Amino acid sequence: MKITIIGAGSVGGALGTAWAARGHDIVYGVRRPADAKVAALVARANGKARAAVLAACARDAEAVVLATPWPATEEALRAAGGLAGRVVLDATNPLSMGPAGLGLAVGHSTSGGEMVQRWAPAAKVVKTLNTTGFGNMADTRFPGGKPLMLYCGDDAAAKRMAHTLLSDLGFEAVDAGGLIAARQLEPLALLWINLANKQGLGRNFAFALLRR
Ligand SMILES: NC(=O)c1ccc[n+]([C@@H]2O[C@H](COP(=O)([O-])OP(=O)(O)OC[C@H]3O[C@@H](n4cnc5c(N)ncnc54)[C@H](OP(=O)(O)O)[C@@H]3O)[C@@H](O)[C@H]2O)c1
Repeated sequence: MKITIIGAGSVGGALGTAWAARGHDIVYGVRRPADAKVAALVARANGKARAAVLAACARDAEAVVLATPWPATEEALRAAGGLAGRVVLDATNPLSMGPAGLGLAVGHSTSGGEMVQRWAPAAKVVKTLNTTGFGNMADTRFPGGKPLMLYCGDDAAAKRMAHTLLSDLGFEAVDAGGLIAARQLEPLALLWINLANKQGLGRNFAFALLRR
């Protein structure tokens, strides 16, 4: 599949490298395609990745991943041309630092995922890839089974594509419902960050689903 990843940082790089290794074609949509950091990522993909300026990055994309810092996300979407008709996997978290520590800039009555949909009204937004660390995106192997990756969105075909791409990475992909469920997925990301950074779990753990 042709996947454009907007933002080639920790998340973008982990996803691009992992998908390229599974045969997908990656375009990193970045502000400076000639950056050494971007060139190194492209080289890691053994011919399965290239970099492009934002305005040109999504031309042939079957799926677009948003992997930008929250404050840059609206601008990055605009620079990429609005992404009308595209499947957009929104991996961002609307993090903000407040007096009580790290929190979410929006929540309860809306979500980052829903704001992304407003900024790109003709895109098919799926919220996902936000509830675990980038190291778990690079390597999904755990002795206890597959790590869980929840996704939600309002377009059934876009969610099917997300399910396939998440499964390709090695996640147990689970549909959490309409895009409104991003209001639940984003606090879950905050919980993962809290457990990793403050509660001593470190970054080598992931949420999983048990069934009976
Ligand atoms: N880190 C994690 O484990 C993790 C896990 C799940 C979700 N997330 C979420 O995923 C998003 C990305 O996190 P990250 O850790 O990958 O961040 P990061 O390492 O800081 O990378 C961010 C990327 O976005 C690019 N960028 C910044 N401003 C931009 C703009 N205006 N237009 C286009 N690109 C821009 C940066 O490019 P330059 O190099 O040009 O600045 C960089 O490539 C965040 O919303 C985060 O909350 C992170």
